[in-house]
Amino acid sequence: MAERQILFIVIDDDNYHHSFSIIYKIVIYCSQHHHKMLIIFPQVQGDECSLFIERLFMRLKPEEEERLNRILAPIRNDERVQRMKNYIQHGSISTYQHVENVTRLSYWLNCRLHLGADERVLSIGAFLHDYYLYDWHKKSDSNKMHGFTHAKIACENAKKHFNIGKRTQEVIEKHMWPLNMSKIPVSREAWIVCLADKWISTKETLFCRAKVRAVAEQV
Ligand SMILES: [Fe+2]
Ligand SMILES: [Fe+2]
Repeated sequence: MAERQILFIVIDDDNYHHSFSIIYKIVIYCSQHHHKMLIIFPQVQGDECSLFIERLFMRLKPEEEERLNRILAPIRNDERVQRMKNYIQHGSISTYQHVENVTRLSYWLNCRLHLGADERVLSIGAFLHDYYLYDWHKKSDSNKMHGFTHAKIACENAKKHFNIGKRTQEVIEKHMWPLNMSKIPVSREAWIVCLADKWISTKETLFCRAKVRAVAEQV
């Protein structure tokens, strides 16, 4: 039997995405040969590291990536959608990055678990699920019930700007269940996005706080 080894890999590069495919090959090699590995990113922040690990294990096949990009291209490039980059969703993550993360996880779950959801409804619904377009941290009369009201606002904006159909509207309107108790998801697309949003929101809230704290300390 081959001797087990521990591999230490240091990625001493700001742009670690360049090393992505080689690291993936090392992970596969180690798992096949029962080696343990420890990857060290001296220059990478905690939240980037968790995103990296997520991307590493939740890889989409090139054809899946291409389909997703084709569906989302008109939405991603719209300047009103780009405004989501100006608002913080959780911790240090912008609303734009948050909806990207939720879309990617929803799409990945659908592909890997063969859930049979409509890719267009799923991807557009996931990308626009928090399209409410304001900073919810700045309290005002109109957003003091943000948790309860933003799904409806996002849905209205999406209808107005992109003329989305009923099934996509359901994905957006019902993503806040069980907080919005009466809005129980019915379709598989709405269920997938609702659950993906819970997972991603929890992860972003718990693990993506470093930069915000650092900025707050500087002020
Ligand atoms: Fe939301
Ligand atoms: Fe969300």
